[in-house]
Amino acid sequence: MAKILSLFIMVTSLLVFSPTLCLSSKTNYYGYLYPQFYDWSCPNAKEIVKSVVAKAVTREARMAASLLRLHFHDCFVKGCDVSLLLDSNGPIISEKLSNTNRNSARGFEVIDEIKSALEMECPQTVSCADILALAARDSTVLAGGPSWEVPLGRRDSRDASISGSNNNIPAPNNTFDTILTKFKLKGLDLVDLVTLSGSHTIGNARCTSFKQRLYNQSGNNLPDYTLDQSYATELRTMCPKFGGDQNLFFLDYVTPTKFDNNYYKNLLASRGLLNSDQILVTKNQATLELVKLYAENNEIFFDQFAKSMVKMGNISPLTGYKGEIRKNCRYMN
Ligand code: HEM
Ligand SMILES: *[C@@H]1O[C@H](CO)[C@@H](O)[C@H](O)[C@H]1NC(C)=O
Ligand SMILES: *[C@@H]1O[C@H](CO)[C@@H](O)[C@H](O)[C@H]1NC(C)=O
Repeated sequence: MAKILSLFIMVTSLLVFSPTLCLSSKTNYYGYLYPQFYDWSCPNAKEIVKSVVAKAVTREARMAASLLRLHFHDCFVKGCDVSLLLDSNGPIISEKLSNTNRNSARGFEVIDEIKSALEMECPQTVSCADILALAARDSTVLAGGPSWEVPLGRRDSRDASISGSNNNIPAPNNTFDTILTKFKLKGLDLVDLVTLSGSHTIGNARCTSFKQRLYNQSGNNLPDYTLDQSYATELRTMCPKFGGDQNLFFLDYVTPTKFDNNYYKNLLASRGLLNSDQILVTKNQATLELVKLYAENNEIFFDQFAKSMVKMGNISPLTGYKGEIRKNCRYMN
């Protein structure tokens, strides 16, 4: 009898306290995120996100990179609350207009497409913030990278911060210390910095994002000598001193659409495209050691990438009754 009673207590306490068994999960009462959040309220949510992302990446391989980057640019500004996705409207000035995002951030139409599909399946249930976190994971997997379980239950912001977008997101010509500081302000460390920079194994950058390195790195009309000089010569043909600012270049010119550790190999060959990439091997011994480790061992890179992405995805989410579930990711309700 005592055995049955204690079993009963165990089962009820599981039902009451375990978020994984919670039947109604439209609102995240727990204040933290967990992967099973939509298992009852929208069981097909993850599949729907994955299928729309897969279609988009089939249309254009670069889309995987663009969606991954959107999640980063969201999380570094007021947390992972999709303040980034709001268009300018009334008092809102869109973060899409910031220096970092203007003519650069892309993939918003794919998020819209996912949201429409989810609104048909389960209206006003799945947040745009969770859609973006799932899309970043699916993109990584589709490009050949690691997978991870995405903690869910984020809600969507009712405001945006263009100044946060301009100031919190690292710029390619920031110093090593500035970039590390910007990561630490978000609760991320040196390991997260080196690991998440590995995202630059896929996707593109515009000429304007690295031109300074080719012509006038330190204001004395000389190039950056930490950049392999024959690679620099190649880059100059499509990234001239004057003009060509929007021309596109692969961040990892060896395997541009494959998520792998080639980015780190490029860095060791002085062939990182951005200044912010190359300084991981030229400015700090600890980051150099990690770059060497990842260049040698893809598995260690993948394992840590999954962990660091979960960590980034946990930056100050809105939960409980905070924020809202937007009907359209571009506008608050
Ligand atoms: C460490 C500091 C970082 C700096 C300074 C930086 C800077 C940049 C710049 C300048 C571009 C090219 C933008 C353009 O020219 O239009 C870029 C692209 C990209 N970044 Fe970063 N980034 C950083 C970290 C990250 C992180 C943490 C992630 C993801 C977790 C990420 C993912 C990407 C991706 C995937 C692209 C290619 C996007 C596309 O092709 O549409 N970056 N980044
Ligand atoms: C970094 O780039 C921005 C935008 O091109 C520019 O305004 C700024 O002066 C640059 N900073 C340094 C230290 O070169
Ligand atoms: C190189 O940079 C310095 C300092 O930013 C600037 O004064 C100079 O005009 C630049 N040179 C050219 C050719 O743009």
